[in-house]
Amino acid sequence: MTVAFVTGAAGQDGSLLCERLLADGLVVHGLAFNQTEADAIKESSPDVVVHVGDLGDTEAMAQLVTWIAPDQIFNLGGISSVAFSWDNPLETGRVTGLGAVGMFEAARRCQEQTRRPVRVLQASSAEIFGQPEQAPQDEATPIRPVSPYGVAKAYAHQSASLCRSRGLFVATVILFNHESPRRPPTFVTRKITSSAARIARQGGMLSLGNLDARRDWGWAPDYVDAMVRAIRHEEPDDFVVATGETHSVADFVAAAFARVGIEDWPQHVQVDPALVRPVDATEQRGDASKAKRLLGWEPSVAFDELVGRMVDADVALLERLR
Ligand code: GDD
Repeated sequence: MTVAFVTGAAGQDGSLLCERLLADGLVVHGLAFNQTEADAIKESSPDVVVHVGDLGDTEAMAQLVTWIAPDQIFNLGGISSVAFSWDNPLETGRVTGLGAVGMFEAARRCQEQTRRPVRVLQASSAEIFGQPEQAPQDEATPIRPVSPYGVAKAYAHQSASLCRSRGLFVATVILFNHESPRRPPTFVTRKITSSAARIARQGGMLSLGNLDARRDWGWAPDYVDAMVRAIRHEEPDDFVVATGETHSVADFVAAAFARVGIEDWPQHVQVDPALVRPVDATEQRGDASKAKRLLGWEPSVAFDELVGRMVDADVALLERLR
């Protein structure tokens, strides 16, 4: 039986991935950062074998990987918030950067010890491109990050190709923004959809930062599917995963508020300069034609449908909490 190890198993992508791999018949081990996360994984996916540990503790991770002896490692763990990384660059570098490279090294060590191949999937990010001069961005776009998070992800991304040249199967998926009702409200989409649901019920305001930033937003389960396809592909490679369409934060707000019947959204939104980042990519738009060509991957959910699903989930959640 194929054994998979998923880091970041409690997150949006990690939880979706664990469910997918279990449904595919794999034995799934998941890494949680603390007991609260471990309990959440156990509750949603009781069949996952949960381990608690710090991805940045590379020696502990190497021992854990040797013990699990996985066939596949999906490295999704780490700091995932660009906003958080500005205030915590050291922690971001330690976990998102060094932690990833530690995982590649752990995989190599495990492979040498067991003499069985270990495949690794690294969750890379559009943030490695920083403020790109070309649009759309593809696998050949220059890597020039402009946030601490992007720098940490770039270190991991470039180390992945180094490890590949040293005989380890490491595939990367360069993920553009991908959302679902499982997103925490620290990310702008869920912040908007949960606020739209709340304001429709009881009024109030929503504070946001940069309303003009344009992002390429897709449906998270599609992006998890791309990860699975990339690790099962015959060759390890880099794949941009994106829809190719962009919308501004303001567009997202307008669509979410319209879904709950509010057309005059600017009356409910204020810009808080404290939420505007020191540097923020004006536009990120991905070209996923390589993933389409080689992996047969395509996004399945369009922007309006994505916003609608997230808003409806937040309206239903408020109903349940009533
Ligand atoms: N979080 C947040 N909160 N973002 C805001 C806000 C706010 O109040 N107001 C405006 N924004 C803008 C940000 O400045 C950014 O331009 C955009 O909304 C999206 O922000 P996030 O949802 O926080 O996501 P992100 O683009 O920084 O990062 C996400 O996508 C990356 C891939 O492109 C994360 O999922 C990363 O982990 C991922 O790598």
